[in-house]
Amino acid sequence: MALERTLSIIKPDAVAKNVIGEIYSRFERAGLKIVEAKMIQLDDELAGGFYAEHKERPFYKDLVAFMTSGPVVVSVLEGENAVARHRELMGATNPKEAAAGTLRADYAESIDANAVHGSDSAASAEREINYFFGK
Ligand code: PPS
Repeated sequence: MALERTLSIIKPDAVAKNVIGEIYSRFERAGLKIVEAKMIQLDDELAGGFYAEHKERPFYKDLVAFMTSGPVVVSVLEGENAVARHRELMGATNPKEAAAGTLRADYAESIDANAVHGSDSAASAEREINYFFGK
């Protein structure tokens, strides 16, 4: 299979827990290469635009507030089957449902503060990578 790219965000709760290195190690051990990375403080406009597809959902306002509550680490990961491989490493959106050994089982507290984000398809990955790293 050809190399694929996906977007990863280490969310404010995981950054505050000081586990950026632990999370990066898991990516690297799974064969995902970090090819772009930056730590940034999102504002309402940047976080709101990123989650625009959820604008009508009841949790949207809280999600934007959470994502702007502290710095995040945004990275592009590259590897074979990177989108699916990254999602396997993350586990289910709700950490209560996340399989043992996944990032969300190990580092997330709740569905609102769930440690990591990963693109859910190749098309989303292209859009999300362009959103943060497009020239
Ligand atoms: S859904 O419900 O299947 O559409 O959810 P999903 O597309 O996987 O992701 C929704 C993103 O919103 C964040 N979030 C919540 N989702 C559901 N319920 C609540 N209460 C909630 N609060 C926040 C969730 O973590 C997903 O964020 P990302 O960054 O995409 O993983």
